[in-house]
Amino acid sequence: MERLYFERLLSTRFKRRDILLSAGLLTCFAIASQWSSRVNAQPKFSAYPFSLGVASGEPYPRSVVLWTRLAPDPLNGGGISSENIPVQWQIATDEKLTQVVRSGTVYAIPELGHSVHVVVDGLQPARWYWYQFKVGNEVSPIGRTRTAPSVGQQIKQFRFAFASCQNWQDGYFAAFKHMAEEELDLVVHLGDYIYEGPADSNRIRQHNGAEPVTLEEYRNRHALYKTDPNLQAVHAAFPWIVTWDDHEVDNNWADEIPQDPDRQSRDEFLAKRAAAFQAYYEHMPLRPFSKPKGIDLQLYRRLTFGDLVEFNVLDTRQYRTDQPCNDGIKPRCDEAFNPAATLTGTEQEKWFFAGLDRSKARWNVLAQQVVFTQHDWTAGEESAFNVDAWDGYVAARQRILDFLNQRRPSNPIVITGDTHSSWVSDLLADFNNPDSPVVGTEFVGTSITSNFTASDRIEAALPESPWVKYFNGRQRGYVLCDITRERWRSDYRLLPQSAPSGATVPNPNAPITTATSFELPDKGVVKRV
Ligand SMILES: [Fe+2]
Repeated sequence: MERLYFERLLSTRFKRRDILLSAGLLTCFAIASQWSSRVNAQPKFSAYPFSLGVASGEPYPRSVVLWTRLAPDPLNGGGISSENIPVQWQIATDEKLTQVVRSGTVYAIPELGHSVHVVVDGLQPARWYWYQFKVGNEVSPIGRTRTAPSVGQQIKQFRFAFASCQNWQDGYFAAFKHMAEEELDLVVHLGDYIYEGPADSNRIRQHNGAEPVTLEEYRNRHALYKTDPNLQAVHAAFPWIVTWDDHEVDNNWADEIPQDPDRQSRDEFLAKRAAAFQAYYEHMPLRPFSKPKGIDLQLYRRLTFGDLVEFNVLDTRQYRTDQPCNDGIKPRCDEAFNPAATLTGTEQEKWFFAGLDRSKARWNVLAQQVVFTQHDWTAGEESAFNVDAWDGYVAARQRILDFLNQRRPSNPIVITGDTHSSWVSDLLADFNNPDSPVVGTEFVGTSITSNFTASDRIEAALPESPWVKYFNGRQRGYVLCDITRERWRSDYRLLPQSAPSGATVPNPNAPITTATSFELPDKGVVKRV
């Protein structure tokens, strides 16, 4: 229905612009014909080519990235032959696309899975735009995006939601249905956008195929996730900032080391990692600097929104040292305290400190993957720590806490995914001294769908971590953050609790409520409201 509406709307629009567009296309074809004989200007598709929707991301004050991927047969490699296909795009200041401010043609090429990343510039800061793609006679859904306010510009309010961990096989993306209806400036995704596990016929919905290894297999897995209409709706409604965690590649991978080094060689893993990185870039609205180079992909970066908030987006997988103590949730061995152990690598750590020192933003966000706060999982005398998280990299975490304590950047806020449960914690200058100063706040968001089964254990051990002010492992959802000059508010938007066995979100239309809200005043400490 929706697609037909857009087609009708746009067929008129594009007809009126035929002359302009064809003039533009002729130029492109003339250039293209000099370097490629494989351009198909009149492609015929077996099915609708915009099956994966549209997306935008990386908002700067004057530019934003627009994304789509041509995939008439999304679960089987995309379904486009090895041709370069011209894709037209336009961006307008109104939702009917009558006031077009920029337009152009870009090639969807087989080397990038016929994905398209358009960096549109020359835009106005802090305003909404609508955009659309056209290929042959087919038009995409219309997406909406928003530029960032100018750096330093005084802004009164900023609203974003953050999410993570959306295992397809665990349940439906009901949370995204609600997120699409929020009033937001931005969505931040903190990783586990896909899961790499094989299809399991006992689950509420199934992955396509075995665990991906090749580029085509990772493309097919990303495509499966992107076919979800609720996920597509959130991408079409807001610009996103994304970072990955482990499952985009392999469970608990660390730099060049897979989860199971005894079952795959280093070279096999690096080939898998390169394929996973490539497919990730192809499916995310990232800037061209994130295009993979060999086995590397530049993902850590900084985005600033006026004078109010700055996001330091971390990559805690690509440069980390291997998990200490053989990974897992266990008592910490000496290795967990090794000063050389790192989640970020030295370069990223320096970049982060330098950025915090320079920042003029009131709220300084560390958008990252794994739980930052110290937390003992075992009640009583014995202790157990998740050594895949910052609890396994104690010296590296202490360097950050020391920095926050000594340099006092304005309002450090850590936002976190990975752990499939909701947490609010004070960051203490020294977690071994509960009376040490509070130097920041961590908000951990629960999963969109991914399962969590350790609530009882964590609840029993909570009194031993008095800096934890909220924990909820029983509900799925996301966190909505509303920021003003005076205060930061986080609403935990959660779906109803599901039965302990079976799907986490069995109802694709499950309602959502604000289960709890926490606020902290400027330069203050977080409290439940
Ligand atoms: Fe996860």
